Amino acid sequence: MAERKADDSPFPSFLGLSVFYWKSLPFCLILRKIINVMLKEKINNLLAEIEKLKAENADQIEALRIKYLSKKGEISALFDEFRTVSPEQKKELGQLLNKLKTDATNRINEMKESFSDKLGAVADLDLTRTPDPIELGTRHPISLVRNKIVDIFSRQGFVVADGPEVEDDWHVFSSLNFAPEHPARDMQDTFFITRDPDVLLRTHTSCVQSRVMMKQKPPIRVLCPGRVYRNEAISARAHCFFHQVEGLYIDKNVSFADLKQALLFFAKEMFGEETKIRLRPSYFPFTEPSAEMDISCDLCGGKGCSFCKGSGWVEILGCGMVDPNVLENCGIDSKVYSGFAFGMGVERITNLKYKVKDLRMFSENDTRFLDEFKSAF
Ligand code: PHE
Repeated sequence: MAERKADDSPFPSFLGLSVFYWKSLPFCLILRKIINVMLKEKINNLLAEIEKLKAENADQIEALRIKYLSKKGEISALFDEFRTVSPEQKKELGQLLNKLKTDATNRINEMKESFSDKLGAVADLDLTRTPDPIELGTRHPISLVRNKIVDIFSRQGFVVADGPEVEDDWHVFSSLNFAPEHPARDMQDTFFITRDPDVLLRTHTSCVQSRVMMKQKPPIRVLCPGRVYRNEAISARAHCFFHQVEGLYIDKNVSFADLKQALLFFAKEMFGEETKIRLRPSYFPFTEPSAEMDISCDLCGGKGCSFCKGSGWVEILGCGMVDPNVLENCGIDSKVYSGFAFGMGVERITNLKYKVKDLRMFSENDTRFLDEFKSAF
């Protein structure tokens, strides 16, 4: 009979236990063979078992970890057994055993992760949230431009002041040098709430000027943004309410040159470095001298086009040196102090900046129009 090799599978012959076997191979070799085979089988069984591992909570996962991976766990026990494996089998069984350990570790980690994901999801669940994604809106173009105006003047030291929209005659007209029955009152068609005493919707933000001057001592450098109302028919070019920003600067030795410089800085910051300004004489009861300010048309660069009606200039605001009567009306000594004021329509500036042709668009709340300003500024 041919001699059997040491790494032949011993099982069939071992079970047969032939006398020849007992004589030709040392007993310990056979025993080792048995251990090798049994170990391989145990490893394969555990590999199959680990693939199907399941747990329903963190405690069960921990129990599985202890069962397989702890120092006294099943896999550690197999590593102990591995020490007795015959040298020729060490490589194969060693690799298999290592695979078992990594598979088991991965599987248990995987279960831990999926379980902690579930836990996280439960902890994050806010039952008060609306089911639909909430669409983010945009800032209204009027707010964008108002904020930009405030930003430009705040860099020149102006601070924002506020006042009521429902006003009295004194603040809107009388304190600002509008004489009773003066035709200038007709310049601004007023919505009256009551007559005598007159309570009305403010027709301009200049009334915040007089409120500030009556309360504060110079130096004063305020910006008054707000909504104003005029009794006008609604059309593409006029509305019964719109927005203004008023500026007021009172101090010693304030001159027309300061006014011009402040407005030139504003025009360049708002419409671009190459923008030019032009001041034309005008009339307002509360400023003397008064002026209307134009900027060079940024569509044609001043050459003249249909937008600027061929003139190369577009009007943007009214301004002037505060009339000494107004200073005195508000308790400021006009011999010591002087100042300038200006006022502009925010819709007008917005139209120029974004070429909005119809004023009504600003108050119709059409989201298609508002969406156009998502990336503005
Ligand atoms: N209040 C004026 C208007 O509504 C604008 C203005 C403000 C003019 C301040 C001069 C100075 O038309």
